[in-house]
Amino acid sequence: MSEPTIALVTGANKGIGYEIAAGLGALGWSVGVGARDDQRRESAVEKLRAAGVDAFGVPLDVTDDASATAAARLIEEQAGRLDVLVNNAGITGGMPQEPTQVDPATIRTVVETNVIGVIRVTNAMMPLLRRSASPRIVNMSSSVGSLTRQSGTAGEQTTGPVAVAYAPSKTFLNAVTLQYARELSGTNILINAGCPGFVATDLNGFRGVRTPEQGAAIAIKLATLPDDGPTGKFFEDAGVVPW
Ligand SMILES: NC(=O)c1ccc[n+]([C@@H]2O[C@H](COP(=O)([O-])OP(=O)(O)OC[C@H]3O[C@@H](n4cnc5c(N)ncnc54)[C@H](OP(=O)(O)O)[C@@H]3O)[C@@H](O)[C@H]2O)c1
Repeated sequence: MSEPTIALVTGANKGIGYEIAAGLGALGWSVGVGARDDQRRESAVEKLRAAGVDAFGVPLDVTDDASATAAARLIEEQAGRLDVLVNNAGITGGMPQEPTQVDPATIRTVVETNVIGVIRVTNAMMPLLRRSASPRIVNMSSSVGSLTRQSGTAGEQTTGPVAVAYAPSKTFLNAVTLQYARELSGTNILINAGCPGFVATDLNGFRGVRTPEQGAAIAIKLATLPDDGPTGKFFEDAGVVPW
């Protein structure tokens, strides 16, 4: 039997992240369930195992350097390498977020999780990803981070509410994704951003119209790209999202 593909999904204890873990597990992969809360992580791991997934818990707070380092150590001990990293953990910082009213601390908190957290975890995992034959990195972004869609350029309707912390954090994440793709061009590492659509989760008080399973589909697609697949792009189910 060939060795299983090893994946880590951050923020995998609920919502879209849980369904990404379930979907990758259904492919026969071994899936690290990255989550910061011990109880929420363990119950997600138990639920995934009950569904037949080869899941293992990875304590991980994406805002904490020591936690990211420890997570990489755990995966090294557990698997010796990492094939796929899905940076899914994210927060909105709470609404409303009117630019003229916002507390700067909200911006810092959201960027710390949604942008710096992705950089922190990606860099902690990079030595393990470099050991993989086909490394993939998927950053869960949002079309609300698309400047084209927000501005209604290209004749599109503006996307998402006015949200001066959350939306620009995803614009920032998209730009960061592109920077990684540029540095890593010429390597076998493919890194892309994905938008799950408007999904009913805690993040939006379950106002979304798609299921978490539907939201997970784009991440699973980007996690399973062939070696000649795209890198440095931004996708949703329907195709490329404009920057
Ligand atoms: N829902 C949507 O409509 C939508 C649309 C576009 C993009 N997205 C993106 O999709 C991703 C998943 O969102 P979701 O809707 O599934 O939200 P969710 O149900 O609120 O889940 C967010 C996950 O991130 C985790 N998380 C937050 N901060 C963390 C930290 N510091 N360290 C580790 N984990 C942390 C949460 O853990 P705890 O349980 O411990 O809080 C939870 O597991 C996010 O990046 C979000 O921006 C969602």
